[in-house]
Amino acid sequence: MEAQREERSTKLLGAQTHVWNHIFSFINSMSLKCAIELDILEIIHNYGQPMPLSKLIASLPIHPSKTTFVYRLMRILTHSGFFSILKLDENELEVGYVLTDASILLLKDNPLSMAPFLHAMLDPTLTKPWHQLPTWFKNDDPSPFHTEHGMKIWDYAGREPKLNHLFNDAMASDTELVAKVVTEKCKGVFKGLESLVDVGGGTGTMAKAIAQTFPQLECTVFDLPHVVANLQGTENLKFVGGDMFESIPPADAILLKWIMHDWNDEQCVKILKNCKKAIKSKVIVIDMVVDSEKGDDKSIETQLFIDMVVMVLYPGIERTEKEWAKLIFSAGFSDYKITRVLGLRSLIEIYP
Ligand SMILES: C[S@@+](CC[C@H](N)C(=O)[O-])C[C@H]1O[C@@H](n2cnc3c(N)ncnc32)[C@H](O)[C@@H]1O
Repeated sequence: MEAQREERSTKLLGAQTHVWNHIFSFINSMSLKCAIELDILEIIHNYGQPMPLSKLIASLPIHPSKTTFVYRLMRILTHSGFFSILKLDENELEVGYVLTDASILLLKDNPLSMAPFLHAMLDPTLTKPWHQLPTWFKNDDPSPFHTEHGMKIWDYAGREPKLNHLFNDAMASDTELVAKVVTEKCKGVFKGLESLVDVGGGTGTMAKAIAQTFPQLECTVFDLPHVVANLQGTENLKFVGGDMFESIPPADAILLKWIMHDWNDEQCVKILKNCKKAIKSKVIVIDMVVDSEKGDDKSIETQLFIDMVVMVLYPGIERTEKEWAKLIFSAGFSDYKITRVLGLRSLIEIYP
């Protein structure tokens, strides 16, 4: 009896920890955002060696009454893998902070920096819609973003230059890394192509990388007029404004990076049918193929996070292979090939 009671209270306390952990999960994002806005990552990076707390505090643009709080922020971010602590002397009396692979990816000057993605996703314009999630479940609005702001994210970005820039910079920063991998590891995908349209290609990061790697390829970035307005092309790259639901410029191949996950099945079939009318060779999709059997807990959770992000902002969905196949065949394509080369995302070639 006593042992059973003991076991029950251990389980209850474990459940309480689990609940607390979920209530406070937002603290991970907010602490990271704070460290970036205080320039902590840049300061440690520029120091060039393990940085003692005292030196870090002295370099920070903070009020003197706040100096004693800095180690608390550093402690949680060290726990979550954004800093490591190294000994500065044999007796471990003094320690210094260094960056980790994750925080290096957030440095402003890193060409692959993910900082713009963080700034956009954690901007109140994109975090406020999360408070509308339960309301959205009870009304017929297309997305919680719409419930919060009264319009679709694309219309909001068309009216508010701040969100337009935040969002386009976020996408461009994500695409830098993807473009590097695609142009290094997937050269064969572009073999034999003479023209390519990057539909929903944003400000052209992906198309620029492809145009540079394959100078014989005529590349076009096709996106909403407010996204491509005033953008300058190069010899083999041009920008065209338009609406992919109306029509898509013709080309050997079409690229859709992080487009399909923004839309529901009916809208995706429409986009794919418009692609089919426009292409000679194939459609190349870069998006997630969700598989809850494969991958570690963190990868699966991250895919599920992004699935929720696209539901709240657009509303879109991250799809399983079965769901992809249904879309592809419904749009009249005959076959597809999935290559898992992009971490949590895949490259899907779709053939007419
Ligand atoms: C998630 S972003 C992806 C941008 C880019 N492909 C990338 O991954 O960096 C979606 C893009 O689709 C564009 N878009 C939305 N509606 C569109 C439409 N009806 N026609 C063309 N582009 C559209 C947006 O402006 C945005 O640039």
